[in-house]
Amino acid sequence: MLDFSSHDVLLVGGGGAGLRAAIAIAETDPKLRVAVVSKVYPMRSHTVSAEGGAAGVIRRDDSLDEHAYDTISGGDWLCDQDDVEAFVKEAPEELLRLEHWGCPWSREADGHIAVRPFGGMKKMRTWFAADKTGFHMLHTLFQTSLKYNAITRYDEFFVTKLLVDDDRVQGVVALELMSGKIQAISAKAVILCTGGCGRVFRFTTNASIKSGDGMALAYRAGAPLKDMEFVQYHPTGLPFTGILITEAARSEGGYLVNKDGYRYLQDYNLGTAQPKPVLRSMELGPRDRLSQAFVKEYERGRTIDGPYGPVVHLDLRHLGEKVICTKLPFVRELCLKYENIDPVNEMVPVRPVVHYMMGGVHTDINGATPLKGLYAAGEVACVSINGANRLGSNSLPELLVFGARAGRAAAMFAAEQILPGRQVRAQALDEEARLEEHFLQEEGGRERVSTIREEMQKTMEESAGIYRSGESLRRGADKLHELQERFRCISLDDRSRTCNTELLSALEVSYMLDVAESMIQCALQRTESRGAHQRTDYPARNDENFLVHSLVSRTQDGAPRVKYLPVSITRWPPGERIYGT
Ligand code: FUM
Repeated sequence: MLDFSSHDVLLVGGGGAGLRAAIAIAETDPKLRVAVVSKVYPMRSHTVSAEGGAAGVIRRDDSLDEHAYDTISGGDWLCDQDDVEAFVKEAPEELLRLEHWGCPWSREADGHIAVRPFGGMKKMRTWFAADKTGFHMLHTLFQTSLKYNAITRYDEFFVTKLLVDDDRVQGVVALELMSGKIQAISAKAVILCTGGCGRVFRFTTNASIKSGDGMALAYRAGAPLKDMEFVQYHPTGLPFTGILITEAARSEGGYLVNKDGYRYLQDYNLGTAQPKPVLRSMELGPRDRLSQAFVKEYERGRTIDGPYGPVVHLDLRHLGEKVICTKLPFVRELCLKYENIDPVNEMVPVRPVVHYMMGGVHTDINGATPLKGLYAAGEVACVSINGANRLGSNSLPELLVFGARAGRAAAMFAAEQILPGRQVRAQALDEEARLEEHFLQEEGGRERVSTIREEMQKTMEESAGIYRSGESLRRGADKLHELQERFRCISLDDRSRTCNTELLSALEVSYMLDVAESMIQCALQRTESRGAHQRTDYPARNDENFLVHSLVSRTQDGAPRVKYLPVSITRWPPGERIYGT
């Protein structure tokens, strides 16, 4: 039996962006009834694993223009500059607000907020809470959200469909994971805050929950995705698990060395070797350049063969136990637990790993998508402030700034809407029947969810990794098409309703296949190299034809179609990206 409930604004996702948006709605209009629907308990959201910090101008020697310029040049000029200017202005305001809500930022001895340098930034502006920044930010947002009675939570509910009637999003259908009950939740506005889609790839820092749910929901409902070809590799993940070793390890002075113990980044136009990392140089260069340098190092035969493939070494030994234990305690804990290595005495094997999606649901500066009533914020969205390559520590302030903006905009929109129409009920019943028939009743299919997921991840790694080519991408597109066909024939062993994790995996894989197809199509059609999108067959940046955002929509037959949208260039004309000076 289908359950129905109704709210004014509904958030899909209970991580940093979702909670920040929920608080903004409650503060904008205390009369609005807010629902947070999350497939995990909010404190298990992926924000909790953000480590290194959150960027925001705070020191006298820094300026908003410098933060904006670092972001825009780091993004290889694909950022919308008016959005970036709003972002850098509001980032410190949001970080201070979090301080007032109880976030325990690390401090200097004199009581000032402590900041550390971060990759691609020429000033120290990354606020941090040791190396557990996301954990502390999420706690702060969660505890703050608890004081608003208007916020109702649906923890461990998985959204399977957006309800769209009258060209307006009017709610969602969700599966309660514990009971298997289907719930239709109507709303006057919906905000997607589901994070990224790193699990489309096999080797990622992303939690297993990051399966592109919000991107696929929007795409299926008719909202375009933007810049999906831009996938960020973080240069330092632990081999095998992909667990993140934060950039803070390099900002505190760690080195990356090859098999000869040589700081190889000095060979890649990122500055010369110094006793400490220098701002915007070497180990503190931007992530796209560092990950590309790893591949080149491998091709030169200068990486180290490990049981899970080639690695380089992160050397923290010269920092000493005191610095490691006060500034990087989590790094030490992760290395000890997952590699049985103590970074105080030993070098840590690392390699690039999929970390973040620059692309996402196309939104304006207030999180509004082209589909009325639908908003998005955080990693699921593409505003765009990250362009072709996000700078480390810009994503945490991004989820605060644009979570708050989306919350305020959705609250104002919802206040003017009437209750959802009758169609919504009928659509929800259809969705319940689809889930029942396709996943829980159908017999005869031979395909396994896990096989399709593995083949998809392998395909993405081989065809759309750090370097891609037309040939590899076409192969990837064909394979994904085949996997979409085969997915129609999946068969679940578990047909029960209670805690059916196999059903959840099937739904997630179906989302990931759509997201993967959109990425491959955008990458195929962008015949240039820019930021994190490096085409071996088109190695140069081509501003004449590609200083544009890609916008990918789903056609009637399910295939992706790509169009382009101009980039907003206001004050900083495209130039060369220069590091190491
Ligand atoms: O390395 C890190 O701590 C990651 C930060 C980020 O992605 O912003």
